[in-house]
Amino acid sequence: MPPGRALVAPPEGELLDLRQRRVRDLRISVTDRCNFRCVYCMPKEVFDDDYAFLPRKQLLSFEEIVRVARVFVDQGVEKIRITGGEPLLRRHIENLIEQLAKLPVELTLTTNGSLLRKKAQSLKDAGLNRVTVSLDGIDDAVFKRMNDVDFAVGDVLDGIAAAAEVGLAPIKINCVVKRGSNDDQILPLARHFRGSGHILRFIEYMDVGSSNGWRMDEVLPSADVIARIGAEFPLAAIAPNYRGEVAGRWRYRDGGGEIGVISSVTQAFCATCTRIRLSTEGQLYTCLFAQSGHDLRALLRHGAGDEALRREIAAVWRGRDDRYSEIRTAATERPGSGRIEMSYIGG
Ligand code: GTP
Ligand code: 5AD
Ligand code: SF4
Ligand code: SF4
Repeated sequence: MPPGRALVAPPEGELLDLRQRRVRDLRISVTDRCNFRCVYCMPKEVFDDDYAFLPRKQLLSFEEIVRVARVFVDQGVEKIRITGGEPLLRRHIENLIEQLAKLPVELTLTTNGSLLRKKAQSLKDAGLNRVTVSLDGIDDAVFKRMNDVDFAVGDVLDGIAAAAEVGLAPIKINCVVKRGSNDDQILPLARHFRGSGHILRFIEYMDVGSSNGWRMDEVLPSADVIARIGAEFPLAAIAPNYRGEVAGRWRYRDGGGEIGVISSVTQAFCATCTRIRLSTEGQLYTCLFAQSGHDLRALLRHGAGDEALRREIAAVWRGRDDRYSEIRTAATERPGSGRIEMSYIGG
């Protein structure tokens, strides 16, 4: 060996994908089940009594999840979001949170809020930093039509109050807008949350999965959301908190707080996308719209060490070229495209 040549492998440098993006956010789905049947996510006709959800032994255990998360943190991940399905349905979820909270990351969770009153305190005690709550209407009848299981809006609002009481803040409220279904809720929601300290965000309805029958004419562009709210409460754009932030931020000019819009359809943000997703059964997906994943569970269950895991994860990220939202075309309006469901991969 020539003198001076290092004995160890040379550092591989910063972990970047094919489009020079870093890996920053890990989204972990802990269950593919949900107690809601939101019309745009788990329509009843598809997710009925015969639907084959994952059997328990196929789910990653908490130990397996924590191992993967640790390796990701070593690779540069700074934020971990727990999703589902409805993550609070996973038994003893607090135990997982307690383990993940030991890592040097921001730890958040996206929930439909139905179990928040019951769980807010234990989530906080376990070390969760904050929550994002999905809420597609403030009128009880509209909300029930959107969740399609007759769940009352008052109970979700009470869950949000519980989260605020224990300090899981700042709380973000996500509303998926489906034109003709709940766009009449935009202003009432804005009026309700103005001045509450919670950040209300409107999400453009996306063509995720292949069971929601997505059509472009059901997407209400974020620009329209801003115009509608701005007509009643003047708004001003504010700078993103960080490069690659998903939501566009706006503030009420009179000091009533902040709102956001997530324009995944009309203004794709793939160029700065730093997210990777771990499915309930341990498949790694480099895009929300991916058609296939990379099987980490097999590696984990066949005794792979951390170094082997690290290499696999790095190889997956280095080969990443996804930018689905940027190249979405009308052709994607066809159902049955083979994309995985949002309830499986996590929002
Ligand atoms: P914070 O602002 O840090 O709380 O996280 P965030 O902006 O990523 O928000 P959140 O995780 O709550 O995501 C909000 C919604 O944006 C999701 O539920 C999705 O509908 C959408 N979204 C999030 N990440 C992606 C993504 O990578 N691609 C696309 N197309 N949509 C996304
Ligand atoms: N389009 C946009 N957002 C969606 N979500 C689920 N399905 C869709 C879709 N088709 C959102 C939920 C929740 C998060 C988990 O993902 O409303 O806020
Ligand atoms: Fe459940 Fe969330 Fe999907 Fe609604 S959007 S069905 S609450 S996972
Ligand atoms: Fe990232 Fe894929 Fe969403 Fe684009 S479509 S922002 S690459 S997850």
